[in-house]
Amino acid sequence: MRSFSEIFESYQTQTDSIIFPVQPENLYGSITYFLRSPGKKIRPVLCLMSNELFKEVHADAYHVANAVELFHNFSLVHDDIMDHSVLRRGRPTLHLKYGENTAILAGDILLIHAYMQLNKINISYREQITHLFSEMACRICEGQQMDIDFEKREIETLKYTDYLRMITFKTSVLLGTAAQIGAIIGLANPQQQNNIYDFGENIGIAFQIQDDFLDAFGDVSITGKQVGSDILENKKTALLLKAFELADPLQKMELKAAMLLIGEERIHTVIGLYKNLKVDEWASTAILHYTEIAFKSLDLIDIPVYKKEKLAELANSLLVRQS
Ligand code: IPE
Ligand code: IPE
Ligand code: MG
Ligand code: MG
Ligand code: MG
Repeated sequence: MRSFSEIFESYQTQTDSIIFPVQPENLYGSITYFLRSPGKKIRPVLCLMSNELFKEVHADAYHVANAVELFHNFSLVHDDIMDHSVLRRGRPTLHLKYGENTAILAGDILLIHAYMQLNKINISYREQITHLFSEMACRICEGQQMDIDFEKREIETLKYTDYLRMITFKTSVLLGTAAQIGAIIGLANPQQQNNIYDFGENIGIAFQIQDDFLDAFGDVSITGKQVGSDILENKKTALLLKAFELADPLQKMELKAAMLLIGEERIHTVIGLYKNLKVDEWASTAILHYTEIAFKSLDLIDIPVYKKEKLAELANSLLVRQS
């Protein structure tokens, strides 16, 4: 059983092997621009690690890993349009550089190519895997819609459970499904598949809470994303909801007033309130909490412990990630 970085290395050569046409140059050039930017590749590597947990990595797992990463990139390109983001992986977002229309099409092509990868896998499980993948894809769109709908909602109308449902859909199902599909290719039994899905889903929840944390407290030179973009977009993040929950009546008013400020002033004021309410510290405990739940699912899988250690290592590394 190899580590994340070992599998990452072997996977790296695979993504480079996905061939796109050249013309129209603006369309495929924009895709190359995006795919060549350094993403962490967590989802495809998770898929491959999950496959290796049960059997030696199968060629089909690489196709699925590609499908997962292409799909993820599609979702990011469209997400950046929806979130009016200007920076991604340390570079101008695709829509900013090539225009929104091209970004919509580039996202579409990435999505279509994800399915072209799935089409390459063995017929024995192709239908099952494509079905799971499509269900996952629908959940992500639903989660993204909730995320946008929440922007317009007053904070007090949302509960933390609403947030958890939204991030489970927009982020966690992709990690869960990537892990599950890797296990299916490794001929894991349904129980093992469920457990590895739960592992992926819970590290996905921890992952999104950390993403929310980094949006406010990260370093742009490491995250490659603009600081405070969630605050500017009225996103109902874990931090905002928790801050509102912990705030006394006066602080609640301050928080709501701060969210009406413009630009940098809004970002500074809201982050100041987050610090006063210690939601930055709370975020670490929440992330640890979901990672521990993930570990419980991993424990339930009936295979030798030494094999599971590499996945535990991956989960632990996500706890301290800065990008
Ligand atoms: C960003 O995912 C989108 C979220 C679900 C938070 P990553 O942080 O994995 O993005 P890349 O691929 O490494 O850039
Ligand atoms: C992204 O959530 C989820 C999907 C792309 C489906 P965010 O909007 O928080 O991701 P970032 O912060 O832009 O990477
Ligand atoms: Mg975004
Ligand atoms: Mg978003
Ligand atoms: Mg984010």
